[in-house]
Amino acid sequence: MQFTLTEEQLAVKEAARDFAQNELKPGVIERDNSMTYPSEQVKMMGELGFLGMMVPPEYEGGGMDTISYVLAMEEISKIDNSCSVIMSVNNSLVTWGLEKYGTEEQKSKYLPRLATGEQIGCFCLSEPEAGSDATSQRTTAEDKGDHYLVNGTKNWITNGGKASVHLVMAQTNPELKHKGINCLIIESDQAGVSIGAKEDKLGIRSSDTHSIMYSDVKVDKSQRIGEEGFGFKFAMRTLDGGRIGIAAQALGIAAGAYELAVKYSKEREAFGRTIIGHQAVAFKLAEMATEIEAARLLVYRAAWLKDKGRDYAMAAAMAKYYASEVAMKHTIEAVQVHGGYGFVKEYHVERLMRDAKITQIYEGTSEIQKLVIARQIQKGKLEEPLTE
Ligand code: CAA
Repeated sequence: MQFTLTEEQLAVKEAARDFAQNELKPGVIERDNSMTYPSEQVKMMGELGFLGMMVPPEYEGGGMDTISYVLAMEEISKIDNSCSVIMSVNNSLVTWGLEKYGTEEQKSKYLPRLATGEQIGCFCLSEPEAGSDATSQRTTAEDKGDHYLVNGTKNWITNGGKASVHLVMAQTNPELKHKGINCLIIESDQAGVSIGAKEDKLGIRSSDTHSIMYSDVKVDKSQRIGEEGFGFKFAMRTLDGGRIGIAAQALGIAAGAYELAVKYSKEREAFGRTIIGHQAVAFKLAEMATEIEAARLLVYRAAWLKDKGRDYAMAAAMAKYYASEVAMKHTIEAVQVHGGYGFVKEYHVERLMRDAKITQIYEGTSEIQKLVIARQIQKGKLEEPLTE
């Protein structure tokens, strides 16, 4: 059993940590307060290769493995989760899906600019009445021979106002239910695309979340990903990888709050000693350390299974479910360790607590992750074999 990272993976982790601490930390509180999109920071992420980490070098990407990607996500999520969700969607949901299932023409047209951050992508599955119940797509893609005519509304779309490349799930043959859904690449400047107001959110406040309306948008058939009716399977397979990215985000949130709690508890004195010397605090830190390490192992294992070409749907759901629960629980505890200071924005930990909540919701709620895991158990999969 191998628990060590390679030199390259360690270098990626270090680079992401430096970037997060030096470039993202200054200004993160102000951006969160004012819901300001981190334009400069996203540009830098593109230049540093964080927006297309797993994209092959021939399409201007980093050609890295999923482990490297989760290491970078973890470090960036310790500081700025608006940046890390932008990164996660662009890497896991947009470039990965395009690279895996797109045609050569689609890949060479879109991947280089997405991988370098010249363009940003978004993944348009959720609808006002289809969040968890993703097969119930109301957006339609009417077959008009050589093109589709797309009509409908998508909700809570990360990168919605900034993305120029949209991967849109839409129903073409309702009688076939989910087998009638297509995934179409739509560009934001096409006639009939309009963007709703930016959502005012509890957490990840400077990320760009919008509704998107499509009204008689004409989409050439060459813009469809995969065979006719492949759209729902495309969304599910892409989300399996997306869940690893969000699990890494949750892990980073928990680990970031833990680092802050340890630092504070070694500085703050009460009743004649630093508070880490009080069992009430020390036991909280011990619980945090243990549960965060367990989450880390689940996240890295899911990434490893993906890199090995193994089935990772169940492992990804487990990692996301557990890491997001740990993030929520331990950011609350980290605020508690900080006492009154924890409630104040300047100390960063309350922001991580607010950011933690969304990791239990997007890319499938905790309940959806349990459903995915339970279905695998029902099919007879008791555990992931520890064989090559
Ligand atoms: N891989 C491949 N195929 C899959 C799959 C997977 N992981 N999961 C399901 N499928 C297939 C099934 O095999 C089935 O195909 P067949 O009919 O050919 O057998 C088909 O998809 C339908 O599956 P189910 O019968 O299981 O469908 P369901 O409706 O009962 O449940 C679900 C599916 C798991 C609940 C799914 O709807 C789901 O994951 N919902 C949550 C959606 C979600 O995560 N949304 C997040 C939006 S994106 C986002 O948040 C991005 C952002 O901006 C941050």
